[in-house]
Amino acid sequence: SNPSLLILAGDGIGPEVMEQVKRIIGWYGDKRDLTFDVFEDLVGGAAYDAHGVPLHDDTMAKAQKVDAVLLGAVGGPAYDDLDFSVKPERGLLRLRKEMDLFANLRPAQCFDALADFSSLKKDIVAGLDIMIVRELTSGVYFGEPRGIHVEDNMRVGINTQRYTEAEIERAARSAFELARRRNNKVCSMEKANVMESGILWRDVVNEVHQADYADVELSHMYADNGAMQLVRAPKQFDVILTDNLFGDILSDCAAMLTGSLGMLPSASLGLPMANGRPKAMYEPVHGSAPDIAGQGKANPIACILSFAMALRYSFDEGAEADRLEAAIEKVLADGARTGDLMGPEGGTPISTTEMGDVILEALDAS
Ligand code: NAI
Ligand code: MG
Repeated sequence: SNPSLLILAGDGIGPEVMEQVKRIIGWYGDKRDLTFDVFEDLVGGAAYDAHGVPLHDDTMAKAQKVDAVLLGAVGGPAYDDLDFSVKPERGLLRLRKEMDLFANLRPAQCFDALADFSSLKKDIVAGLDIMIVRELTSGVYFGEPRGIHVEDNMRVGINTQRYTEAEIERAARSAFELARRRNNKVCSMEKANVMESGILWRDVVNEVHQADYADVELSHMYADNGAMQLVRAPKQFDVILTDNLFGDILSDCAAMLTGSLGMLPSASLGLPMANGRPKAMYEPVHGSAPDIAGQGKANPIACILSFAMALRYSFDEGAEADRLEAAIEKVLADGARTGDLMGPEGGTPISTTEMGDVILEALDAS
């Protein structure tokens, strides 16, 4: 049977960029004999409008059954005043939580044609290709106790950074496995100098390394130094392994090394299913971009690169993922630019659909 995909396009530019991904999925069926069973459903504000909840139980059940979920983006001004329990983001969080997607993969890759676009000097980022593995389901965003209490007539805000050995171990295994498919190098980042969870993190990463991944080059770095090094000399890294909080910040920092939000994909992976594939959701890093939604201006590349990650990590089609990334590289080198990829000197941007057109042409020529 064909591999299956659930598409949750969501809100704002989500459906616009996903439309281009659907054309590319169709191309793989027609031209590469790689056919997916594609299902579509609602998430976020779109699901709220239809069902009064940001993710229907039936949709959740479908997400648990397919080989991979592709998500566009959720949210927008129409939903800003909704109760917290039904906010669009809650749909996303429910997917991550119930699928137990503990490893968030955030690549920071600098396409040569866009090196001028980085926040840094061209020679620091040209050729950059790093991958941040962020633990996504635990740590200080979830630890108990939490809350705002009154102590001695003063309010106190409390969060707890809490990691179990098992949580650290599975994140570490993801990073080491990934490193073996890349350049065999992992740098783990925490603050073992000031945090107990950091001491345990470093211990467990070392143990997993010694037991099963001694062939991978492992180093450790305090996360604050890691932030400096990412900006000073990012090419020293290949895979960076870190916790939920530091990963949130370090991955956004790494993202800006490469230029536009419109270029950044992500994957969130969980445990293997019965068929050996990991539970997986792929999504662009950007949001629903209400400022440009409905105008055909959105850059579809982040979403298309997210599908490339699905080809690589869910479907073992690394060569086809390379083909798609090369097509994107080619159109950028040829000068194809959506508005977000235009410098201050300007020019005439192409539309979302036109970007899809040229990528399909490049695929045809590949
Ligand atoms: P955003 O990522 O939607 O937009 C930030 C800026 O980047 C905007 O100027 C936008 O036009 C531009 N941009 C983003 N993606 C682009 C693309 N593909 N092509 C061209 N330009 C692009 O973040 P913002 O404005 O903070 O949030 C807007 C809404 O999206 C909010 O409701 C927020 O909650 C939601 N959001 C959803 C996320 C998700 O679904 N994973 C992630 C981040 C925000
Ligand atoms: Mg963030």
